[in-house]
Amino acid sequence: MYSELENLYAACFPDKKQKWTANDFADLKKSGCDIIASQNSFIVWRTIADEAEIISIGVAPIARRTGTASALMQIMEHDAKQNGVKTIFLEVDELNIPAISLYQKCGFTNAGIRPHYYDNGHNAIIMKKDI
Ligand SMILES: CC(C)(COP(=O)(O)OP(=O)(O)OC[C@H]1O[C@@H](n2cnc3c(N)ncnc32)[C@H](O)[C@@H]1OP(=O)(O)O)[C@@H](O)C(=O)NCCC(=O)NCCS
Repeated sequence: MYSELENLYAACFPDKKQKWTANDFADLKKSGCDIIASQNSFIVWRTIADEAEIISIGVAPIARRTGTASALMQIMEHDAKQNGVKTIFLEVDELNIPAISLYQKCGFTNAGIRPHYYDNGHNAIIMKKDI
């Protein structure tokens, strides 16, 4: 399963220098993160007390704009709520318009900026949603 996720990650993030490997996914799972994946999509999040953080989400290019990521976000939110989560956080590259649009559509709002957070020098926007 984790080697399939490694391939999926590479397809979703072709420009990232440091791509997650099968071992990285295994370590995330071991450290307590939740992972939901299908053939063309995945989402990874972690929960600490009543807060959850979406660590990554990706949909293979061939499957985009068909509501896949929105569905994953809904499943994640439902699961988080069942586990007592009150607020979901995430970070997104300020220039990643598809992702920012997705999160806004899912009800996330801006909660801050992390300057020069990414390797490419871009700022991260912190977004949150109370559930
Ligand atoms: C961001 C990403 C996960 C969206 O996945 P998706 O399955 O295509 O998203 P959905 O089909 O559920 O789209 C939901 C909404 O997001 C917005 N959206 C998605 N892709 C968009 C794009 N290319 N441009 C503008 N808005 C976009 C739209 O509002 C869309 O609703 P609509 O189709 O009714 O207009 C996908 O583009 C992806 O994997 N990108 C590369 C990885 C990445 O950047 N992950 C996020 C890291 S923080």
